[in-house]
Amino acid sequence: VDSKTGQLLDLHEQAAKLYHHILVNTEMGQPALDYLHDRGLTDETIETYQLGFAPGQRLLKPFFDQRQSDYQLLRQSGLFIENAQGELRDRFTERVMFPLRNASGHVAAFSGRLLKKADDQPKYLNSPETTLFNKSKLLFNFDLARPAIRQAGEVTLFEGYMDVISATQAGVNNGIASMGTSLTTEQIYAIERTTDKLNVCYDGDEPGQRAIDRALRLLGEHSHLQLSVIQLPEGQDPDEYRKAHGDEAFRQMLVSAKEPPLRFQMRFLRRNRALETDSERLEYVNQIMPLLAQVNEPVELDMYLNQLASEFHIDKAALAAQLKQVQRDTA
Ligand code: GTP
Ligand code: MN
Ligand code: MN
Ligand code: MN
Ligand code: MN
Repeated sequence: VDSKTGQLLDLHEQAAKLYHHILVNTEMGQPALDYLHDRGLTDETIETYQLGFAPGQRLLKPFFDQRQSDYQLLRQSGLFIENAQGELRDRFTERVMFPLRNASGHVAAFSGRLLKKADDQPKYLNSPETTLFNKSKLLFNFDLARPAIRQAGEVTLFEGYMDVISATQAGVNNGIASMGTSLTTEQIYAIERTTDKLNVCYDGDEPGQRAIDRALRLLGEHSHLQLSVIQLPEGQDPDEYRKAHGDEAFRQMLVSAKEPPLRFQMRFLRRNRALETDSERLEYVNQIMPLLAQVNEPVELDMYLNQLASEFHIDKAALAAQLKQVQRDTA
């Protein structure tokens, strides 16, 4: 760590402490603290993640000015917005603050969530990319989760910070999240160095389902991870599930809603399709075949073939023959 990096990390650490202090110890932070409590987080969890609050008024700028912090350093931190005159203002205002720690556990950036819905502002605002923060590399909670991932022998990938934090609140400590954007190969390689099993547990809405499909393809192409999908009920995300059903049900759901990727993919390809005509059904079968060709378990494969055969009234031997063909073509 060079001194510049060290100074930037130190700046982030101080900012995290200050945001956290505002949240837990001040009148200004009370609405945000109520909000987090309403969302089912305990003080212990708020402590673990050093959650904070950025109030409406200026906070960081006067704080660091008092400490005579270096202007260039403040500029490069990403914690401020610079106007045409080169003046710096706090980037985050009126937001619940989630410190984003790097793999070594140092705060490298922040994400701030709006307390109240506002149409003209993004729900989550992240720090810009800086020398400390590369959003395609950082995995939320990876530093805290690593021991639990090793112990469980698997990692669960969620879509949102709140899903990860909610899981922790329910006693599930091996959860991580990518940065809202889709999963990247760099993140996959980092995961693969820690475990060989990954569960994808994204939101039960249409964007979530599409993101699962994308993640599975990327993971299939760039890793040897043993994959599962944890399918949430329609329209719910993991955090909402816990809020609705409680910690115990949440933990059970993570086990009972687990399915092989192909189950998900078969359902995903079917959605929004009537499959009423022969040509529609044929097209569907043709899309499934390359996926079936990747299944190495004979028993599992047989299950899928049976399902397809009975569902579409196709001769199983014909399906098996076509599968052989596809396997030859892709070999
Ligand atoms: P809550 O509403 O707080 O429960 O958040 P969520 O995690 O359920 O949010 P959602 O499912 O809408 O999005 C999943 C993840 O995408 C979030 O955790 C963020 O990382 C990211 N995200 C969502 N909205 C935005 C946004 O407006 N801007 C950016 N940069 N990222 C976002
Ligand atoms: Mn504290
Ligand atoms: Mn979502
Ligand atoms: Mn969500
Ligand atoms: Mn949510």
